[in-house]
Amino acid sequence: MNVEEVFHMNGGDGANSYAKNSHFQKKASEMVKHITIQTIQQAYLSIRPNSFGIADLGCSSGPNTLSIVTDLVEALTREITPPPAEIRVCLNDLPTNDFNSIFRSLPDLYRQLRKAGTDGVAGGSSTVFVSAHPGSFYGRVFPTSSLQFVYSSYSLHWLSRVRVMQKSS
Ligand SMILES: C[S@@+](CC[C@H](N)C(=O)[O-])C[C@H]1O[C@@H](n2cnc3c(N)ncnc32)[C@H](O)[C@@H]1O
Repeated sequence: MNVEEVFHMNGGDGANSYAKNSHFQKKASEMVKHITIQTIQQAYLSIRPNSFGIADLGCSSGPNTLSIVTDLVEALTREITPPPAEIRVCLNDLPTNDFNSIFRSLPDLYRQLRKAGTDGVAGGSSTVFVSAHPGSFYGRVFPTSSLQFVYSSYSLHWLSRVRVMQKSS
């Protein structure tokens, strides 16, 4: 069995879903949020591209996914002049992740960003494009030179594959 083809968090928003059982992971990302924000701002300011690409490796589904997207977009638009013209947010997880529930939340996310003045569609500062990139981050998931900032929280230890290091004799 290829674990990467079947492994996933519980989708939807039922009692046993990841969406309803990921408070601990949310707390962990909140604890280091100031570092994440400072780092993405530095990354943008050091190159200032018109189109800034962000990836979230192991994004899962549920409130944590879009909450970090909002934080990262706000970090690039609230305190920085000029902010990037475009922000591309590339969500990555294994193919059986519940990407559909993320897609269903996108209209709300875009509305929220417009209201906060961070999305250029409403005359705000940056136009935000969210896309999904299903596949294992052990392999190639993104096109060349498409990303300027890569984020991952509570995913690297959640291994869909275990690498065994062999001692040479
Ligand atoms: C505990 S969840 C963390 C989700 C989210 N980042 C958060 O902070 O709530 C770990 C996620 O990593 C994903 N994952 C594990 N191995 C992966 C791999 N090789 N490639 C892509 N995603 C992977 C899992 O499918 C799962 O959705």
